[in-house]
Amino acid sequence: MHPTDRPRRLRTDGVRSLVSETTLAATDLIAPVFVDATADERVPIPSMPGHERVPVSEAVERVEEVLATGVESVICFGIPESKDAHGSGAYATDGVVQRAMRAITAETDAYVVGDVCLCEYTDHGHCGLLEPGAEDDPTLTVRNDETLELLAKTAVSQADAGADMVAPSSMTDGQVRAIRDALDDAGHTDVALMSYAVKYRSAFYGPFRDAADGAPAFGDRRHYQMNPANRREALREARLDVAEGADILMVKPGLPYLDIVRDLRESFDHPIAAYNVSGEYAMVHAAAEKGWLDLEAVAFESLLSLKRAGADLIVTYFAEDLAAHL
Ligand code: PBG
Repeated sequence: MHPTDRPRRLRTDGVRSLVSETTLAATDLIAPVFVDATADERVPIPSMPGHERVPVSEAVERVEEVLATGVESVICFGIPESKDAHGSGAYATDGVVQRAMRAITAETDAYVVGDVCLCEYTDHGHCGLLEPGAEDDPTLTVRNDETLELLAKTAVSQADAGADMVAPSSMTDGQVRAIRDALDDAGHTDVALMSYAVKYRSAFYGPFRDAADGAPAFGDRRHYQMNPANRREALREARLDVAEGADILMVKPGLPYLDIVRDLRESFDHPIAAYNVSGEYAMVHAAAEKGWLDLEAVAFESLLSLKRAGADLIVTYFAEDLAAHL
């Protein structure tokens, strides 16, 4: 009895990598960096082992650590000195991210991405300006059109500080066009725009909200982030962002939404990014701490799966740990 075909012939050590359909490289990855204006030393983030908030004075050193692993890109998040209703720290010329970016772009060769959102900078923790009375009425939420101008100012202030790319993550309708127009008007025609085009209202962002101190003080983000039940709507969101001028389309979170990554890959020619979010990172770490999972192997398989689903690039907290082994 001989099988008619033997897939196992291509699984020997000699040939396996020759027929590998997907690869993962350090240069596919973007490492998140948290800069904290309230800190004078590094503060570990308990729910994200290995990650820290660093003071502005250590931003360059932090990015040099990333570059030393072979990862060439970082995305900057900021914890401002103080917060207000308008999130003014997000678009201040001397804001925490703007100061860090000026130093990073002057002193390193990193490719620098800025997350463009207000939630880390508003005292209520929402991603834009609130409707009056929203605290007491859960049906009210962020004022879409009034928020656009602030997002545009945030993006321009980051580009002024040296950002190579901006990444709007607030799920405000029309944000890509508002930001693209503002960048172009300010002369930043070469600054790229990676849209968090398809961002779900996910429970997987929990640890990030500790890291960046951006949890909403009341209510949640269901009125502006996408319903996890929806698949067709992802294509609609992506189509709008392409029409508005996005250069890269991102899906967030990553692993629970591999089908969406694949859908976007098949429907668009633009590069597709996936965000392997804080909860995906924390889960693997928690299980590894218990000795239940092999951290590195599971991290590698997770990112390889995102590539296989169709992602060209991945934002991930595993970037530095994995890069060393790629
Ligand atoms: C800002 C932003 C968030 C994340 C990235 N940009 C927080 C949120 O939307 O709640 C989450 C990243 C993560 O969980 O790793 N809006």
